[in-house]
Amino acid sequence: MPRRRIIAGNWKMNKTPSEAVALCAELKDLVKNDAVDVVYCVPAIDIVAVVEAVKGTNVHVGAENFYIVDNGAFTGEISAPMLKDAGVEYVIIGHSERRDIFGENDILINQKVKKAFASGLTPILCCGESLALRKADTYKEWIERQITWDLDGVTADQVKKLVIAYEPIWAIGTGETATADQAEEVCGLIRALIAKLYDQATADEVRIQYGGSMNAGNAAELLSKPNIDGGLIGGASLKPDFGKIVNA
Ligand code: 13P
Repeated sequence: MPRRRIIAGNWKMNKTPSEAVALCAELKDLVKNDAVDVVYCVPAIDIVAVVEAVKGTNVHVGAENFYIVDNGAFTGEISAPMLKDAGVEYVIIGHSERRDIFGENDILINQKVKKAFASGLTPILCCGESLALRKADTYKEWIERQITWDLDGVTADQVKKLVIAYEPIWAIGTGETATADQAEEVCGLIRALIAKLYDQATADEVRIQYGGSMNAGNAAELLSKPNIDGGLIGGASLKPDFGKIVNA
């Protein structure tokens, strides 16, 4: 069975609740496409308003982060049951900004992947190398190590539902996109790793996105590659261009 394309916006720390509702209205007709899963991953404070704003459309809502405990004394955090109850279906885990700015490591990221599945949320698990690792030509080993750690103890049935986003850090917000061949090389390598860690059937089902300066101009070429099943889009997800990516 062919894998269903998934185009997700990562709004990062942008849009107040009222701005978020306005953006949903602006994008509503532009992102229509029954053949694609469309997801808006939005700031926690926007979730309730965005779930309401996309009701009756083809858009699904995702969160950008959560903590691994259901409730308790964790000031400032939000839990998986809170997200689920609010109508969230997806959650980004292990984005390089969380890893680099907020010190999240692969042990926590692995716990988050397992907790998301246990809570009925679909993880969008991010991986990607720095420019230094790309230049040193050690990026393949790095990605394999990230994925192997992050999926420790995750079952094949769960991985079949998982979304993995390959986001080279040097391409995020820089305007410098990986070439379609560079992106395909790593997405193919991730799929081969899943076949090795699990089996071919699991590797055939897991959906792998590319992320990093994806835009209306380069999306079609990236998405034409056999191992690239979608995109995780930052800057361009906040503009009408997002509709062009959905329909690329
Ligand atoms: P940009 O599309 O702004 O480069 O961001 C990519 C990203 O980090 C998505 O998670």
